[in-house]
Amino acid sequence: MEYGNKTTRVVVIGTGFVGSSYAFSLINQNVTDEMVLIDLNKEKTEGDAMDLNHGIPFGYPTKIWAGDYSDCKDADIVVITAGANQKPGETRLDLIEKNAKIFKSIVGHVMDSGFKGIFIVATNPVDILAHATWKYSGLPMERVIGSGTILDTARFRFLLGQYFDIDVRNIHGYIMGEHGDTELPVWSQTRIGSEHIKRYMEKYKPDGKQEDLDEIFVNVRDAAYHIIERKGATHYAIAMGLVRLTKAILRNESSILTVSTLLKGEYGLDDLYIGVPAVVCKNGVDRVIEIDLDDSEMEKLHHSANVLKEAMKPIFE
Ligand code: 2OP
Repeated sequence: MEYGNKTTRVVVIGTGFVGSSYAFSLINQNVTDEMVLIDLNKEKTEGDAMDLNHGIPFGYPTKIWAGDYSDCKDADIVVITAGANQKPGETRLDLIEKNAKIFKSIVGHVMDSGFKGIFIVATNPVDILAHATWKYSGLPMERVIGSGTILDTARFRFLLGQYFDIDVRNIHGYIMGEHGDTELPVWSQTRIGSEHIKRYMEKYKPDGKQEDLDEIFVNVRDAAYHIIERKGATHYAIAMGLVRLTKAILRNESSILTVSTLLKGEYGLDDLYIGVPAVVCKNGVDRVIEIDLDDSEMEKLHHSANVLKEAMKPIFE
């Protein structure tokens, strides 16, 4: 794709389940001219590049190769999916020390190439690693974006769509906070079409109960545990979410997505990456949207922020 006259390049660092699902999804949606794969396991990456290249005749013209950090110099976007992932029973926060170390080295290598683009961070704990990437890179905050609660919001909308038997594209609502155990659903601003969910339920699903909605949220929050128990990892949906984010940037869409970004006073929070609705365009995060939260939602958001602040202390001390 040519956006303006420039050739677009996306570099994927880490070609495990998430990175390779992202690469596959990206080339199937005609998003970028060039895609570079980088991983410690160079042989696997070469194999991935060959395999993906052989699919190009069925898809869109894209140059794909197994590269190295010098390829980041001309990249528009570097997506980091590298690092350890949760074993059954592990929380995302349990991964912090291992993955923060890996990130220091990866971000250092990317910046040494002369990279001037946008980082998308997907590795967990994603809020803290996006924060670390921002600190380690020295880039302006708008150019370091964590995938945040983009996937949790998708899960929320999907499950509500099923419950109400409504197209997921007509379900509007957000999961905010940590991408993890302290995230929260913003019921006070959740709508079906333009109708508030509570009113919609009274009118069209009178047998529906608040407990059903509570259960839907618990299933959203714990979705990763349920999937990891069954197949060891989650990767397809997050990969599609990362492609959505990539498109919002490369196509300058000004899309509102729940990403992890640095707050500077919004929601009464400061100096912290956390999942909030934000406008994403060619410059990265253009602005945070401060939706009206009720008191209990605000309290939960602050609790989530405190948990993140506490958890990240060891890596920035
Ligand atoms: C997920 O929510 C594990 O963070 C990953 O699927």
